[in-house]
Amino acid sequence: MTVAAPVLHEAEDLDAALADARARYADTHPRSRAAFDEATEVMPGGNTRTVLFHGPFPFRAESGSGATLTDVDGHRLMNLLGEYTAGLFGHDHPRIRAAITAALQNGINLGAHNTYEPRFARRVCERFSAIDKVRFTNSGTEANMMAITTARAATGRSKIMVFEGAYHGGVFLFKPGIETNAPFPWIRLPYNDTEAAREAIRAHGDDLAAVLLEPMQGASGCIPATADFLACLREETEKAGAFLIFDEVMTSRLGHGGAQSLFDIRPDLMTLGKWVGGGMSFGAFGGRADAMDLFDPRRPDAIAHAGTFQNNVLTMAAGIVALEEIYTPEVAVALTERGDRLRERLNRQAADLGVAVQFTGMGSLMNLHPTDQPVACMADLQAADDRVRELLFLDLLAAGFYVAQRGFIALSLPLADADLDRFAAALEQILVSRRAFLHR
Ligand SMILES: Cc1ncc(COP(=O)(O)O)c(C=O)c1O
Repeated sequence: MTVAAPVLHEAEDLDAALADARARYADTHPRSRAAFDEATEVMPGGNTRTVLFHGPFPFRAESGSGATLTDVDGHRLMNLLGEYTAGLFGHDHPRIRAAITAALQNGINLGAHNTYEPRFARRVCERFSAIDKVRFTNSGTEANMMAITTARAATGRSKIMVFEGAYHGGVFLFKPGIETNAPFPWIRLPYNDTEAAREAIRAHGDDLAAVLLEPMQGASGCIPATADFLACLREETEKAGAFLIFDEVMTSRLGHGGAQSLFDIRPDLMTLGKWVGGGMSFGAFGGRADAMDLFDPRRPDAIAHAGTFQNNVLTMAAGIVALEEIYTPEVAVALTERGDRLRERLNRQAADLGVAVQFTGMGSLMNLHPTDQPVACMADLQAADDRVRELLFLDLLAAGFYVAQRGFIALSLPLADADLDRFAAALEQILVSRRAFLHR
């Protein structure tokens, strides 16, 4: 992977610097621009997944191998975004490809109980101690919808408590101004505010079906929960007879058994997605047997759970190999430790340079923030300037590194230590050159 030094322009103010960076990007991505213009004729904004859009127009990927992405303009990028955590195995893991190819030999779709699903389910139950029984879905969004449905059916209550800044899927985004959420009766509280949560659970106890959260908020910027906050939620939900649901769509890659194994807290239900399906479309919800058994079709009062592709053989086959052979608990622990070391190193680097930049996160999931203030919830990020995020994103792209525009990084297995060294060195150079916009 060759990494070109970024061509940085002197600019007097942030807007001018950003305009320069966008112009440089446009000049070096003519084919991406042409592809984008064409796409806008048939897709709104040329886009079918909002998060992938970035200004001035998104680059168009042509191929991926290992942790390298090649765009249609011929740039080779070190992929540090790892498909927002689903790309844990890189772009072309040979064992996952082999599993999918083997499954294809027996039919693309079977439309019946198949031999893969119970084996995959067993591996999931073994890995995540909160899961006695599991059901599969096509996505993390559906998994959360079904976990909420399970909690409401099991408790006979309606309300769901969530936390500001949370992202639990396309119709579960708890940021100001979002009008497209599924219409459950939500109670919204600040993340990591232990006393507010305790009070609210006690106040709503009689009609509270569940508290739903990530043990580390991913999309709002890799903000870990405090141990006290999670312990309080566990204690109070138990007292109130409400379910505690962990959305581990992202965090399940951490530690030997997901983030819950690091915090040593057992939720009643949890949801999965992303990497667990080996990089294929995937979601799952599972937990306490008494609640999950509500889906047992032999019961006269069984809850129906439909979805054409939720036991599709390609995902099932890829997931089995992912859990059994590749991302074993030992590998998960090692990657978590590597990620912790990288985050600490990048934070030391920023502190040594005296710039207002920090990385928050856990293990292999981290997020750059252009602020030196402590970050415990989304509101703490108000001071972080989105223009600075975009500038650093465009500088990193110019240097050959792909991270999310919001600063999100999800390490994948093919990334070598030497790759991370190169990233740290390039970032240091960029932070030095943009020091003027990174005042402490
Ligand atoms: C924490 C969390 N929950 C749920 C989802 C939704 O998963 P999907 O995109 O598979 O619907 C995501 C996706 O980014 C996520 O990060």
